[in-house]
Amino acid sequence: MKILVTGGAGYIGSHTTLCLLEEGHEVVVVDNLRNSTSVSLRRVERLTGRRVDLHEFDLLDALAVDKLFEENQFEAVVHFAGLKAVGESVQKPLFYYQNNVVGTLNLLQSMEKANVRRLVFSSSATVYGASEDVPLSEKTPLAATNPYGRTKEQIEDILSDLGTADSSWSIALLRYFNPVGAHESGLIGEDPQGVPNNLLPFVAQVAVGRREKVLVFGNDYPTPDGTGIRDYIHVMDLAAGHLAALDYVKDRTGVFRWNLGTGRGYSVIEVIEAFGRATGSPVPFQFAPRRPGDAAVSYADPSAALADLRWSARKDLDQMCADHWRWQSTNPHGFS
Ligand code: NAD
Ligand code: WQD
Repeated sequence: MKILVTGGAGYIGSHTTLCLLEEGHEVVVVDNLRNSTSVSLRRVERLTGRRVDLHEFDLLDALAVDKLFEENQFEAVVHFAGLKAVGESVQKPLFYYQNNVVGTLNLLQSMEKANVRRLVFSSSATVYGASEDVPLSEKTPLAATNPYGRTKEQIEDILSDLGTADSSWSIALLRYFNPVGAHESGLIGEDPQGVPNNLLPFVAQVAVGRREKVLVFGNDYPTPDGTGIRDYIHVMDLAAGHLAALDYVKDRTGVFRWNLGTGRGYSVIEVIEAFGRATGSPVPFQFAPRRPGDAAVSYADPSAALADLRWSARKDLDQMCADHWRWQSTNPHGFS
């Protein structure tokens, strides 16, 4: 298939682009490179021996999006482009709603005009908010607790309404849990700008000597070791989930929702210890107060994806840490 990947230069987008190319698909990427660099895609080209056609523009530029659809006959779109920092979304809500929601509306309008009605969308477990009704299933009520999460919830609503209004759309909403790790080559991986918000990139930067120690947010949660529990999933498993979803919507119409997680939770301390095993030396940490808004426990019920897509995550926490470390240690400053 000829596939448009929005946000394809980013962390999950670059890994998924690699897998799409390896499966023989033709990939066109649109990315404004606000949170990424084209180097990721040059490396994907190196790894696959295939070309990626990168268009550097913003989804807010509706005319440019229209033009791209006029010039290409896409069979499907995988839509990663979006801003994702929870704290920044609280500071700049209008920016987040504009970028994520309006950007998606522009994309959908161009798709409709061009008669392209197959979409895989990056949603997030963040739509479940602080629910601790674990495991979280697709039936758990949505209750996002911050502007970023609400952009995902609003986009899910828009896509549901679209599917109701026009039954020729095929839409997969993928709710990722906590993506980590990197391609086994160590050539591509997550390259956060500034101080990482998420646990794994922070731990990796401590391990590589860029930061002094990990601050563990809270050790008084009602969990076995008192620290928060999350469902970490290897980015290559996640990428495989996109291919399975694309395959599913290829010859079905409707709006489908799937959790992409492993179904198993690990505490912050378990992650720090696993990373220490990957690097061969313990990662220094210190307990700190809870981070506002954090749930104690979050992990997926991934059974719907297994039943419908025949997809399940394969890589365990040690593989996630080993691959993340290979990327971080061979690229201590990311792509720069
Ligand atoms: P990322 O920031 O690495 O990738 C997103 C890409 O989209 C970046 O390359 C960025 O430059 C681009 N982009 C953003 N706004 C754009 C716009 N208006 N026009 C064109 N390009 C734009 O993030 P990621 O971790 O790869 O996440 C991909 C998607 O998955 C996002 O939608 C994110 O919300 C979602 N998600 C991520 C996580 C996570 O923890 N990484 C978890 C759940 C969901
Ligand atoms: C994991 C655990 C922290 C950093 C976020 C977004 C969510 C989704 C995934 C996009 C928690 C603890 C963290 C640190 C720590 N993204 N922690 N020290 O909060 O589950 O989810 O990323 O959709 O929307 O909210 O992930 O990696 O930030 O935190 O102790 O320096 O690690 O308290 O228990 P989270 P995270």
